[in-house]
Order: sequence, then structure tokens, then C-alpha cells
Amino acid sequence: MAVVGGGPIGLATAWRCATRGMRVTVYDPEPGSGSSGVAAGMLAPVAEAYFGEEESTRLMTESAARWPGFAAELVELSELDIGYRTEGTLVVGLTPDDLAEARRLWSYQQGLGLPITPLRPAQLRDREPLLAPGVRGGAHAPDDHQVDPRRLVAALRVAAAKAGVSFVPTTVTDLSAIPEPVVVVAAGCGTASLTGLPVRPVKGQILRLRAPGGGPPGFRHVIRGYADSRSVYLVPRADGEVVVGATVEERTDPTVTAGAVLDLLRAAADLVPELVEYELVEARVGWRPGTPDNAPILGPLPGRPTVVVATGHYRHGILLAPVTAVLIAELLATGVPAPVLGSFLPERFMTVA
Ligand code: GLY
Repeated sequence: MAVVGGGPIGLATAWRCATRGMRVTVYDPEPGSGSSGVAAGMLAPVAEAYFGEEESTRLMTESAARWPGFAAELVELSELDIGYRTEGTLVVGLTPDDLAEARRLWSYQQGLGLPITPLRPAQLRDREPLLAPGVRGGAHAPDDHQVDPRRLVAALRVAAAKAGVSFVPTTVTDLSAIPEPVVVVAAGCGTASLTGLPVRPVKGQILRLRAPGGGPPGFRHVIRGYADSRSVYLVPRADGEVVVGATVEERTDPTVTAGAVLDLLRAAADLVPELVEYELVEARVGWRPGTPDNAPILGPLPGRPTVVVATGHYRHGILLAPVTAVLIAELLATGVPAPVLGSFLPERFMTVA
């Protein structure tokens, strides 16, 4: 079988298929060079659960439960650190309006039975003393973690290769050119031109800062913040990096704009003032593979059972990699889609030819 696309979804799927005894070739000119190289790596099934997206939230929760085992297996096999951290996420609101917005969302999340606990300002600062004194309140999502997507891709490449996966450094523009009889299309936004599915690029501008002095950042939790109506997340890494993200724009241009950098940094510094002393090391643009209902597309194309799609993960590709890989490998091994795939099949966007 072939996998088109060497991002986390394609690599994890290739790895899982190979460990089930399949012969797998990954086609990608430069694995990991797409949006995963830009992504922050939030594993946030709770803080990123949005109104009306209950099916996706269930899939995110299932994938989050798989992450500890997936990470342990990957680290053991690859012998690489993937930056997997489990301190959890703090959701915080700067102003009373920001807090009200955050509370609306976490009340919805609590209503779904998801683990998120409101905290008073003093409790927030006990957990993260660097939070600005003005932060009005927030909540703790103990099961929302993080991983470093660049390290993740490096480890997945090693693990996949050790499991016997071959790599062909080619851009696939036509699925009929692939010699393998079965193809998994995990090409992110590129899936649209290969399959006709409605996957569109959703631009994200994102920054990377570095803590002064070569040490780790002064805070450990992922911080999901609302600051004067601006939305921001801060992801601190053990190696000193802090990822500050991200815009969500229906645009295809690759421009890093002054306005986006200003907004992201202002929101970040409003929540954690110390960040103004950090080095700004990178400003990048990536494109999330968005779908009309914001849910991933997983399963065979209608009328073309040998073409299986694994894309459209939108803002949750890193989180959803383990469950996607297992579900697609199971489908290919047995020919039977797991019931959970029912909500995510391509046919919701296509009719049989
Ligand atoms: N998951 C974070 C983002 O898409 O920006």
C-alpha cells in the first residue's frame, strides 16, 4: 500500500499499517515540511472542544486517551525525545468580558462531562506565578497536554523506517501514477486536488519565542487565553521555546503580517508580561486542512474502495494522529470501517460516480 503525505497523520498511519504486517511506501518530497512544522502541538480535547462539534470532540477524547501509550511506544522505538508534556492546560480570561467568554465555553465543556475545573485568580497564580496580576480567572484542563510536532515527525520517520516503511521523495499529483493497489491520501490541503474533496487551507500565523539565559520558560502549563477579545495560546517547551499562536484566517497567502504579530504578542504579554523579555526567533505561516463541517474526513472514497482518505483534521491534526492511524490501519487490515468512522466518511461530501 501507499501513503501520500508524510506529515504526522501519514507517518503514524504508515507506521501502524507496517506494524500490522503491511508493506508500506510513503510518498512525500520532504516529510514533515507541511503544517506540522508550524503547529504548536496542543493536545487539547477539552479546551479546544467547541459548540456543535460533539462528534469531533468524542474522536479527540479517544485520541487523547491513546496519546500516553502512543508517545511511550514512539519514544522507545525511535529513541528520540518528542517533547510530550503532561502538565495540563490553564484557560484564562484577562478582562471580565474575556472571562465570561471563557466561562461560556468551559461550561459547555463541563456539560459534555469533560474534565475542566474553574479556578480563582489566586489558585491560577499558585499554579503559574508569572500570570499577569490582572488576569480575572480561569480553569484547569488537567488532561490537555502538548507535544513538539517537529520532534514528533522526526520520531515517526524513524519508527516507520524501523517498522519497514519505505520512503519515495516525490510529489504525487495524480493517484493513478502510484503503483501500489491501495492508497491512503493523507496529503492535508493537497488532498483536494487529488480527490476532489472539499479540503481548504485555513491560514495560521504563529510565533516562536525563546526564554533568556538558555533555561526553560518561567511557566509550565499550556495557557489558552482570552485577552481583550483576542484569543491566544502559549505553549512552553522544556528546551526554552514558547510557541505563541495563532491566527485563523480564510486566506491562502503566505504573508506574515505586522498586525498578526502585534496582536499575538500583545495578547501573550498581557497574560504573561515576562514574555516581552524573550527572544522572538520565528514568525511562520501554516495552513490547516479545513472541511465544511470542521471534522476530519476518514475512510474510502465512495465507489473507490482502494483510495482511503485521512485528512481534514483542521486544528487538531497532532492530537488526532494516534486514533486516525489506528482506525485507518484497522480498516485496511479488515476491510470493515469501525463504527466511529461513520460520522467522518468522505461520502458526506460526495456522491457515488
Ligand atoms: N490547534 C491550534 C491551531 O490550530 O492553531
